[in-house]
Amino acid sequence: MSIIILGIESSCDDTSASVLRDGVLLSNIITNQDVHRNYGGVVPELASRAHQQNIIPVVDTALKNAGVKKEELDAIVFTRGPGLMGSLLVGTSFAKGLSSGLGIPMIDVNHLQAHVLAHFIKENDEDSNQPNFPFLCLLVSGGNSQIILVKAHDVMEVIGQTIDDAAGEAFDKCAKVLGLGYPGGPVVDRLAKEGNPTAFKLNKPSIDGYNYSFSGLKTSFLYLIRDHLKNDPDFIKNNTNDLCASIQSTVVDILMAKLRKAAKDLNISEVAVAGGVSANSALRQAFEEHSVKYGWKIHIPKFAFTTDNAAMVAMAGHFKYLDHKFCEMDAAPFSRVVI
Ligand code: KG4
Repeated sequence: MSIIILGIESSCDDTSASVLRDGVLLSNIITNQDVHRNYGGVVPELASRAHQQNIIPVVDTALKNAGVKKEELDAIVFTRGPGLMGSLLVGTSFAKGLSSGLGIPMIDVNHLQAHVLAHFIKENDEDSNQPNFPFLCLLVSGGNSQIILVKAHDVMEVIGQTIDDAAGEAFDKCAKVLGLGYPGGPVVDRLAKEGNPTAFKLNKPSIDGYNYSFSGLKTSFLYLIRDHLKNDPDFIKNNTNDLCASIQSTVVDILMAKLRKAAKDLNISEVAVAGGVSANSALRQAFEEHSVKYGWKIHIPKFAFTTDNAAMVAMAGHFKYLDHKFCEMDAAPFSRVVI
């Protein structure tokens, strides 16, 4: 008998619902919240209000597009954390109501583990490009930059992580200095295509092990702009593309250097990337180049599975369902966690 799972994601500013049958994707609906654009970042209270407005239509559409009636569902999966508390409460409470109304189990999922498990989503029955264990996953988003050693679906070890800003934050903060709006990562990516990545030299951190640091890059970027503006008030306008290309190539170099070191030290040649920043074209190209140069078997997610989405949540829940790992009705969300 097949297993039909409804996944719900509401950890930050995307309301998403997805239906999987036996790990095969039937639908994945994501509603973004444009309301935050005017504020240069996610406003937690506005995010939770928008989730309240979106959740029912998003779940209805996911079920409708999947051709599944709610009575056919075997379990409700939700993101329990980490994330914004008000946002998480919407998805958690909705999952509790639906699972108790339908009399089916509820499964809680760690958002970061779900990003990693996005690589196991099958788009059809023949899809067989899933990673083999153990593999390394570079998880890069607006809130996290981690190297994760993935030993099994439910055994993951964070072997390196940022000690200050995340890679996505570095993109967003530098983009803000350039007046490129929020989120800045995708704009930097687009403008960098027309720029010279070696035009400006920016700080690269030297810290031990597999950890990352991006706050020095942000500061060196600010100083560079400040110094040039003294002589040329139009410096930003005249150099936007080169500045974007330089930030982007520095972030990608920093990310890949530690990942290369981890792969070499641990003798692992299967390497994946996940999270919002994995949409970045230079990072994707660096993965392709490493695949050729170092013989890595690489796993790069489809764009739909890079940002926050419920398909990855449903996938993580599918594995927990197989292991009978259900959660109690008194489960409360958590805003911070280390996987
Ligand atoms: O995983 P994600 O959707 O959400 C959270 O972290 O909550 O990641 C969002 C981050 C933002 O910092 C955004 O600027 C960055 O991913 N991002 C990108 C690109 N697309 C999204 N950064 C660089 N290049 C991109 N193409």
